[in-house]
Amino acid sequence: MPRTVVVTGAESGIGAACAAAFGAEGDTVAVLYFEDADAAAATVRAVEKAGGTGLAVQCDVADQNSVDTAFAQIEIRWGTASVLVNSAGLNMRGVPVRDMAADQWDKLVATDLTGAFLTSRRFLTGRGKAPGDASIVHISSIHAFAVREGGADYCAAKGGLANLVRTLAIEEAPRGIRVNAIAPGMILTPMNARAQDDAAYRARLEANIPLGRAGEASEVAGLAVFLASDKARYITGAQMVIDGGLSLIQATGA
Ligand SMILES: NC(=O)c1ccc[n+]([C@@H]2O[C@H](COP(=O)([O-])OP(=O)(O)OC[C@H]3O[C@@H](n4cnc5c(N)ncnc54)[C@H](O)[C@@H]3O)[C@@H](O)[C@H]2O)c1
Repeated sequence: MPRTVVVTGAESGIGAACAAAFGAEGDTVAVLYFEDADAAAATVRAVEKAGGTGLAVQCDVADQNSVDTAFAQIEIRWGTASVLVNSAGLNMRGVPVRDMAADQWDKLVATDLTGAFLTSRRFLTGRGKAPGDASIVHISSIHAFAVREGGADYCAAKGGLANLVRTLAIEEAPRGIRVNAIAPGMILTPMNARAQDDAAYRARLEANIPLGRAGEASEVAGLAVFLASDKARYITGAQMVIDGGLSLIQATGA
């Protein structure tokens, strides 16, 4: 039975890979995109090539009305969604707190943390009294627990997301709704554009990764499909790290 799967940030990177991976499961995938309708159309084509059904829907996850409108469109077309994958996010910009504009902080937290709250809440209210067997997967980061200078906005937002996920997990467990996070390390997506374009830079970063390479968006997508599947039926409130061992070496070297 195809599920209705909502993927945010699905016009790019990990979100696009997740949409295609759920398409390969035969699911109906709402491809939520922020600004790039052409890229969203390409993701819809990838979903359909993989064997699913896709629909592009514009959504700014930081805006409550936009989230409500997007979910209403999906529900009219396909009924209640049973999986939410929230991949929409902005990256850190290497600005220390003492130099960080409040606008930068607000925009990042609105996208990476409040966006997770707004999409989760609308997904849950949209389910109403529907039976359980539903699941939310948030794409977090190893920077939820391994901080990096110049990334206070991002690290704080992803750290907050970890506790949003854990709180939601105990709130929704009685209804059979599981809530988990994925914490990727270095994944080759447009968020890491420099690593994709500059081989020497990429090799320097990859030298710090125990498995010796950056990850692929499809590898994160495989984990999202697993977490949303019946095989993960006893997993909730987890933060699954997928980083080639990068976060294990935090204390090495000093
Ligand atoms: N690439 C990595 O190395 C990496 C590592 C750890 C975590 N992550 C996380 O993975 C998620 C996906 O990142 P990615 O690597 O695919 O990057 P990406 O830049 O390719 O994708 C991010 C997506 O978020 C969308 N987005 C930005 N602001 C939005 C908004 N207000 N509303 C809706 N969508 C919005 C963008 O349009 C884009 O489609 C992010 O949450 C990111 O923090 C990525």
